[in-house]
Amino acid sequence: MNRVRSGWATRSGFYMAAIGSAFGLGNLWRFPFVVGSNEGGAFVLLFVLCVLGVGLPVLVGELMLGKLTGQSAVNAIQKTSKDRKSHWLWVGRLSLLASVLIFAYYSVISGWVLYFLMQFLVAPIKGESFDTAVLFKRLMENGHLQLGLTSVHIVLVMTIVAKGVREGIEKWVKVTMPIFFVLLLFLMTKSLSLPGSERAIRFLFYPDFEKLTLTSFVQVLGHTFFTLSVGMGAMVAFGSYLQKETPTPRAGFMVSGLDILISLLAGLVIFPIVFSGTVEAEVGPSLLFETVPLLFSQMGLGNYFGFTFFLCLYTTALVASFGLLEASVSNLVDRYNFQRGRASQIMGVVVFIFAILPSLSSSVLQNVTFQGLSLLKMFDALLINWILPISAAGICLLVGYKLPEKTVRDEFVDERLVDSHQLYGLWRFTLRWLAPFLIFGALVAELFDIKS
Ligand code: TRP
Repeated sequence: MNRVRSGWATRSGFYMAAIGSAFGLGNLWRFPFVVGSNEGGAFVLLFVLCVLGVGLPVLVGELMLGKLTGQSAVNAIQKTSKDRKSHWLWVGRLSLLASVLIFAYYSVISGWVLYFLMQFLVAPIKGESFDTAVLFKRLMENGHLQLGLTSVHIVLVMTIVAKGVREGIEKWVKVTMPIFFVLLLFLMTKSLSLPGSERAIRFLFYPDFEKLTLTSFVQVLGHTFFTLSVGMGAMVAFGSYLQKETPTPRAGFMVSGLDILISLLAGLVIFPIVFSGTVEAEVGPSLLFETVPLLFSQMGLGNYFGFTFFLCLYTTALVASFGLLEASVSNLVDRYNFQRGRASQIMGVVVFIFAILPSLSSSVLQNVTFQGLSLLKMFDALLINWILPISAAGICLLVGYKLPEKTVRDEFVDERLVDSHQLYGLWRFTLRWLAPFLIFGALVAELFDIKS
């Protein structure tokens, strides 16, 4: 069973891929609107605490599970629990389900990005600018177009994943990520020069705890797992490609730190536009698309900047999607000896079937709602506020109780660092007690919030 796995070609290759999978639509598209709908500052503070206090430990746990077993999620769990019929396997299955469903929903939004990318591509050719709000509305009303764009995205990802981890991911990320980072900094300076910027900064960084509701807690946990790409076995697969000498805690820390930084940057680009009063942006999935393009319409060479922005954004979505598909493909390959190409095709088709509902949710199926939520929003809530936290809790317990103590300790502790032993104790406590307790508490709180 223990086939030789292709490790990452270089250490930076792993970092780029792990960061690449964490950094995506979660930071730029989802973070701002979740912050908006939870009234800002207090939620942002909670998010930062939650990433460092809960997300990071779970991330390190997932990477370690993969690195120590050399397997992807379901197999890694089986190897750890030493039993083919162990109940723990349900954790693996749930995380697999999460990765498939999240990929389906992610593909719909990636399709939206693709649409804007195309608009900015043709705008300079046509020599005219466009009204973003009208454009977005047109896209929302056109279910066939959304379904088409979604399938283009899925096919693209499938083709690239079929080629294997190394070549596919490493090259792409290295070029676009630095460009995107600089572009975001530039957009932030533009945004902060708008009249609403002081209010935006206050909104983002002044914590008013009275604005939090019970559901805010589960939302912040769910978003933390989503944005760090944990809870769905993706990082188990990534960890299994990690080279022996790369320290797992450090890898986790880098990924979490950067993820926070980029999310805050996205907030600082988007909220000044919202507060400048030039748009009537709805605080929901359309927020990014209704705000950022306005910056481009106000600057010289705006269409080119717009094109670059959406190209970089699409690339991050693509790279994150590799990770999502990889999570399920690597399970098929490791567990059932499928060929990579075949496994990618099968998963691609499954994902497409699941993507049909959310991609039609604002057109043909717009009347299908549940508690006032459209199908897309329902998908989002079910996955991110329920399935992910539950599966992340399972992973915490598995790593905390089932992996052999000594092996884990040897892997975690770095004798050269003074506090390494204390950190290890804290980490283990978080996985065994704190994180499961918080997740359970938040889910119960959400149940009450829904009922009341
Ligand atoms: N973290 C990614 C983002 O912020 C989305 C994501 C969730 C993901 N789960 C994943 C990416 C698993 C790769 C693998 O957009």
